[in-house]
Amino acid sequence: MDKIVVKGGERLIGEVEVGGSKNAALPIFAASLLTEGVNLLTNVPHLKDVDTIVRVLRNLGVKVGKEDRTYRIDATKASGHEAPYDLVKTMRASVLVLGPLVARLGKAMVSLPGGCAIGARPVNFHLKGLEMLGAKIELQHGYIEAKADRLKGATISFDTSTVGGTENLMMAATLAKGKTVLQNAAMEPEVVELAQVLNKMGARIDGMGTKVIQIEGVESLQATDHEIVPDRIEAGTLMAAAGLTRGNIKILNCPVRHLEAVISKLVESGMEIEVEGDGIRAAGSKRIRSVDVKTAPYPGFPTDMQAQLMVMMTLARGLSVISETIFENRFIHISELQRMGAEIRIEGNSAIVQGVEHLHGAPVMATDLRASASLILAGLAAEGVTEISRVYHLDRGYEGLDKKLANLGANIKRVKAD
Ligand code: EPU
Repeated sequence: MDKIVVKGGERLIGEVEVGGSKNAALPIFAASLLTEGVNLLTNVPHLKDVDTIVRVLRNLGVKVGKEDRTYRIDATKASGHEAPYDLVKTMRASVLVLGPLVARLGKAMVSLPGGCAIGARPVNFHLKGLEMLGAKIELQHGYIEAKADRLKGATISFDTSTVGGTENLMMAATLAKGKTVLQNAAMEPEVVELAQVLNKMGARIDGMGTKVIQIEGVESLQATDHEIVPDRIEAGTLMAAAGLTRGNIKILNCPVRHLEAVISKLVESGMEIEVEGDGIRAAGSKRIRSVDVKTAPYPGFPTDMQAQLMVMMTLARGLSVISETIFENRFIHISELQRMGAEIRIEGNSAIVQGVEHLHGAPVMATDLRASASLILAGLAAEGVTEISRVYHLDRGYEGLDKKLANLGANIKRVKAD
């Protein structure tokens, strides 16, 4: 297993380019199951999670060809029904094939994802919604078994905002008979992008990006071409890296419009962030100011940036309160940050962070994707050497973050561990 070794203290300077979005790409791969013909996806990031969804699709009889960042996906002859435990346990987003499989092939056997490092993350809203669309659902031996002749449109109201639930049901409803209305739908940019791609495939979706999405079912969908949008969380992570190192970087391919809540907090913390030509310039200040943050569904502050912002607050002047409202267990990075000298205490779903003058390098362990990124950020700002183990979590969702940071001047390297 690889380790990342960071020697802190270097200011980040230069230009960096953001790659394609993981959370936009995964549902679009799943959506290809709904189509006949060859879908062409470009700007797909090289990530472990993309490899996993490709394995899930191939297992269902989908032909997937790959050339660098371009994928050709042909589900015309897809005939399998099963997303097995071995794949789903490595990536929960595999459950996104459930809606498309039932809608197009009338049957799906998808392993229940089980627990996760950041929270219980059940899929009850996905299942309840599919039942309302007329699917018969049974849970057997750890698998979700779903069957339907043809799904029928329905009005479905989510109890809480769910990105994956909205995506799964939106995909299923495209081939249902009649009209589906999703109320209290997720408004994340990735949901909007999926809806746009489905419409290019011939779906009739309206209202994406608002809380009410309407889908008029069609008979069939055809393959399409699509370029994956840049990753807003990677861009935000790079901004935080500049803030932590008093750096000055230009971020190319930055999806600024998807980052308003993040940019607003970073500016409040003292960073200068400005649109400059074809990118965004992000510059850190001498001393970070403390800000309070509460994660919320889009357009609120994303939970996927919570750990990175918390690292900034460990070095801020004063006290900040960071509340996590999306996942009940997304504070595992705190104990690792404490080992680096951070002063943080947890009260319910809030972390109370008292800024300190310095963090110090230490061996730490990554526990999930965004926690890994946050530990690298902490290492960039810390005195001495930080060794981050279990970086396979990082490789699930950031393409070459260590190389990108090294190109900006960070003293960082990947070491093959025994
Ligand atoms: N929830 C339920 N029941 C459901 C579905 C969700 O109780 O049936 C709960 C979850 O347990 C959670 C909340 O609702 O507490 C929100 O979960 P959501 O369904 O929105 O999350 P997700 O679709 O599983 C996606 C991203 C996550 C991101 C969240 C929130 C993908 C592949 N994953 O997960 O990304 O944190 O939305 O924005 O799009 C990451 O990239 O590191 C990551 C975890």
